[in-house]
Amino acid sequence: MAAPETTDKRDMATIPWNFRKQDSSAAAIASAVTYAVQVADGYLGWMRQVPGLLAETDTQPLAGRRLLELGPGPTLGTPVLLACAGADVAVADRFLPPWDPAFHPALFTAMREAIASRTDLRTGPLDAVLAASAFAPAVACHAVGAEQLTTVGGIFDVVVSNAVLEHIEDLGATVTNLAAVTAPGGTGLHQVDLRDHRSFDRPLEYLTLDEQAFETLRRGCACECGAQWRASDYVRAFESAGFAVAMHGNMFADPAYLNDLRPRLRPEFAGLSEGDLTTISAFFRLTRSAS
Ligand SMILES: C[S@@+](CC[C@H](N)C(=O)[O-])C[C@H]1O[C@@H](n2cnc3c(N)ncnc32)[C@H](O)[C@@H]1O
Repeated sequence: MAAPETTDKRDMATIPWNFRKQDSSAAAIASAVTYAVQVADGYLGWMRQVPGLLAETDTQPLAGRRLLELGPGPTLGTPVLLACAGADVAVADRFLPPWDPAFHPALFTAMREAIASRTDLRTGPLDAVLAASAFAPAVACHAVGAEQLTTVGGIFDVVVSNAVLEHIEDLGATVTNLAAVTAPGGTGLHQVDLRDHRSFDRPLEYLTLDEQAFETLRRGCACECGAQWRASDYVRAFESAGFAVAMHGNMFADPAYLNDLRPRLRPEFAGLSEGDLTTISAFFRLTRSAS
C-alpha cells in the first residue's frame, strides 16, 4: 500500500518546498486536508499490519505509542492527525516549516470539520493547536535532518515516513540514526519514491548522469530531485544498521522506457538487477532487534 506523493516536482528550485508560501484559498485548504487525512490513514493502515502496534480499540488506536514522523512536509496536517489518533507525536525535518498564520488556522479549522464524525480520532489536539496558534501542543517539532535524529532526544515505538528517504543527504548516517531512536523491537515504516523527480515520465534518467553531474544537481536543489540509490541499496543499509527488513515494490518502470534507457545507463548502473532497475517505488517495513 503506497501513500503517494501528490506533487510532481519538475520545477527544481533552490527554495526548499516546505519554505514556499502556502496557498490558503478554500480549494487549496480542502485539498491539503484531504491529502493529510489520506497520508495519516495510509500510516494507520501500515501500522495495522504490524502485530500489537495498534490498540484493540475503536477510539485512538495509537494511544500510548511514541511516534516519530520523518519529513512531514509543509502543512504538518498528518502528524497532528496522528496525535488525534492518540500518539505521542514528534516530527523531524531538515526543512521544518514554520506556523503560517495565513494558512494553518484555516487548515486545522477545516480539518476539525472533516474528522468530526470519526470515532477513531479525537479533535482535542486540533483545538489545542488552534488555541495556541502553534504545532507544539500536539506535535514536538525538531528542525533536524534524518542524519541527526539522535539530537531529538527521544526513543520511538514507531518511525514513519512517506516520500522522504529519497531526499536525505546521507543514507549511512540516516539508517544509523533511525536505529538509535527506534525502541528495541520497534518498527520503521517507510515509503520511498525511487524516481528521478525531474520528470516522473522518465523516472530513471538520473542513472545516465555521472557521479559529479548528479552531485551538482542534488546540491543545487536541496536533494529534491531524489536519489540514485535503488531498493537493494536501502535494504542493505537498513540491514547493516541492525533492522530486519521486508521490502515490497509498488510501482514499476514501463518496459518501453527501460528499453530506451538501458543503452544509455552509466557503466556503474549497467549491472543492476532487473528488480532494482524496474522498481521505482517501494515500501520498507523495518523491525529493530529486541535487544
Ligand atoms: C516530498 S516531501 C514529503 C512530505 C510528506 N511526507 C508527504 O507525504 O507529502 C519530503 C520531505 O522530506 C523532508 N526532508 C528533506 N530532506 C530531509 C532530511 N535530510 N531529513 C529529514 N527530512 C528531510 C522535506 O523537507 C519534506 O518535508
